[in-house]
Amino acid sequence: MTKAQQHQNPAAPQNVQTTPQSRSPNSVGHMFDRIALNYNLLNHILSLGLDFSWRRKLIKNLETERKIELLDLAAGTGDVVIQALRKTRNIEKALALDISENMLEICRSRLAKARLADRVDLLCADAARTGLPDDSFDAITIAFGIRNVPDVAETLDEMHRLLRHRGRALILEFSLPTNRFLRPLYLLYLRCFVPLIGALVARDRNAYRYLNTTIEKFHQPDDFRRLMRQTGFKDVRVMPMTCGIVALYSGTKP
Ligand SMILES: C[S@@+](CC[C@H](N)C(=O)[O-])C[C@H]1O[C@@H](n2cnc3c(N)ncnc32)[C@H](O)[C@@H]1O
Repeated sequence: MTKAQQHQNPAAPQNVQTTPQSRSPNSVGHMFDRIALNYNLLNHILSLGLDFSWRRKLIKNLETERKIELLDLAAGTGDVVIQALRKTRNIEKALALDISENMLEICRSRLAKARLADRVDLLCADAARTGLPDDSFDAITIAFGIRNVPDVAETLDEMHRLLRHRGRALILEFSLPTNRFLRPLYLLYLRCFVPLIGALVARDRNAYRYLNTTIEKFHQPDDFRRLMRQTGFKDVRVMPMTCGIVALYSGTKP
């Protein structure tokens, strides 16, 4: 049975499936494996707790009028999928996918604690090459994950391929504030404070230096909106939050 068939089997136990990956010891997946244990704590510290409200906004933008199947890409320790299942009643089935096995293991135990384990399948795979069948989901979310993938355009293509007609992609990602006073302060915070706290709490300065470098290098909202349109998404919207530190993007597959 292929991975995609396993995903479609409703009787399949809730477990972590793994697709073959070629990951070097320095790969992004291994980096997240290293920081998985401290990931949630550091996330809340570094965002001053704002990450809860950013994900809440994403979840509020999920469709509520009909039953949906949800795919959460770069699911990490499960924050999006757990909140989505708690806040919305119309999610029939969910799949949480991530390239890091350790992040997914934490996700698995958090789902069990929240008594949601039977409603979510887990898949360890690359977001750009999931191996899942075309037109499988009504909603695909990715929170703070797309800037980590090696090829953003390829990942958007994959999201578009996996969505059904009228399905919605919701992408939450950091951006840089445009305000000329706030921007240098924010950059200072990213370049100095984030790696320092990463070194102190997670004992991994390099991982947190990597995280802020990816924020600086990632597309800014207008550019990313263009990329989503080029992929074929319609009704593309950008919703900036917290002075432009984060943006929520949504787009529909026609
Ligand atoms: C910053 S965390 C975000 C986790 C979660 N979505 C959240 O909101 O907290 C980024 C996640 O992306 C995953 N990731 C990085 N590259 C990936 C890829 N190519 N395919 C799938 N997941 C990936 C990492 O393992 C990590 O769990």
